[in-house]
Amino acid sequence: MRIEPIIDGVIARSAHPLGCQAAIEQQIKFAQQSDPIKNGPKRVLIIGASSGFGLAARIALTFGGANADTIGVSFERAPSQSETGDIHTGSAGWFNNLYFEQAAKHAGRTAITINGDAFANETREHVVEAIETYFEGEVDLVIYSVAAGIRPKYDGSGAVWRSCIKPVSDNVTGSSLDLEHDRWMEVQLPAATPQELDETIKVMGGEDWQHWIDTLVNAESVSSGFKTLAFSYIGPELTHPIYLDGTLGCAKVDLHQTSHSLNLELANFDGNAYAAVCKAVVTKASVFIPGLTPYLLALYRAMKEKGTHEECIGQMQRLFRDKLYGANGAQVDGERLIRMDDWEMSPEIQRQVNDWLEQMDASNFTQLGDYQGVKQAFMQLNGFAWPEVNYTAEIDMTAFIPK
Ligand code: NAI
Repeated sequence: MRIEPIIDGVIARSAHPLGCQAAIEQQIKFAQQSDPIKNGPKRVLIIGASSGFGLAARIALTFGGANADTIGVSFERAPSQSETGDIHTGSAGWFNNLYFEQAAKHAGRTAITINGDAFANETREHVVEAIETYFEGEVDLVIYSVAAGIRPKYDGSGAVWRSCIKPVSDNVTGSSLDLEHDRWMEVQLPAATPQELDETIKVMGGEDWQHWIDTLVNAESVSSGFKTLAFSYIGPELTHPIYLDGTLGCAKVDLHQTSHSLNLELANFDGNAYAAVCKAVVTKASVFIPGLTPYLLALYRAMKEKGTHEECIGQMQRLFRDKLYGANGAQVDGERLIRMDDWEMSPEIQRQVNDWLEQMDASNFTQLGDYQGVKQAFMQLNGFAWPEVNYTAEIDMTAFIPK
């Protein structure tokens, strides 16, 4: 079959295996050609390992100098065939896992992938077993990089908590992009209810990260000097109404608090916990945030023109090399946060971004911002728009369907 992109607003409903392979190869090459990560960890668990920052962290730590072995947890859909013979391609993350594992094993590294719900006890138990089997019982670094819309309660009721992306106190109006139709849209976001805010914190705050670390500590699965890391975003003031001061920002504040309590808890192991504040990049999760995409257009253009633009892999390579395992130890700000958004937040970049955003509207967003770059990055996340892939070639998808 030929695989066409099926885009639904900002969500991709199909994925191209060969494009996902190209994405993995490109990131591996980037890591191999970068200044190496020295003194990096050897046994790493990544929760949310199949795309975005989690995948890039896995690639950077395996191929960017640390030569780490990894266990990756993610929740991805395998290709499948219905009873009527229709084939569903599966999700890009599923292919990312497949091609990452192939490349890592080829390089002589252990790479174990567990496809399961990070919020389930059962998944935690599988991971503890895998650490026992493949890591001689201990892990040196745990990266928590889950971006999820729902968290099942697992209390027997089948109920879930749902995260939402809304302002907290006032309604907000802003602009957003429909990547399917290349359209600029005016959006109105009503303020979240108290319950919506609580549920977003349940899904995207620090509680599940804490559960993971508690499980690993109780199972005696953490090494001496163990570290754990989760990702956050702050952004400039103009994005605060929708992000930092909104439901997601409240969840991130909760995550920061968790990093501090975990840090105290890990002192017994000479260990540390950090929240790393990353740069805004195009990922499956970020294009979903209403109001953020116009900012991404201006930011991508400004940082590319200045030569400081990074995608996930650039951020992760620099994080581990310079800011977590660098010669001077972990680099944190006054709030104990690792700032990977330092280049994004530079006054020069922010002045330029502000300037363009003030002028940006439906008539000019494709010229004023880096629309082409953002759209291409979005398509490439799902295996499309890779120049090296022949999209007219037939692919036997049945070969990918797990037996
Ligand atoms: P992503 O959508 O590319 O990756 C999310 C990962 O979570 C995937 O591996 C997915 O399989 C996994 N996942 C989702 N639900 C799961 C579940 N129930 N069980 C197991 N795995 C599950 O997202 P992205 O953007 O890499 O986000 C990762 C973290 O980075 C999030 O905390 C996000 O807030 C943060 N971040 C993202 C920024 C951005 O611009 N994309 C900027 C700064 C922070």
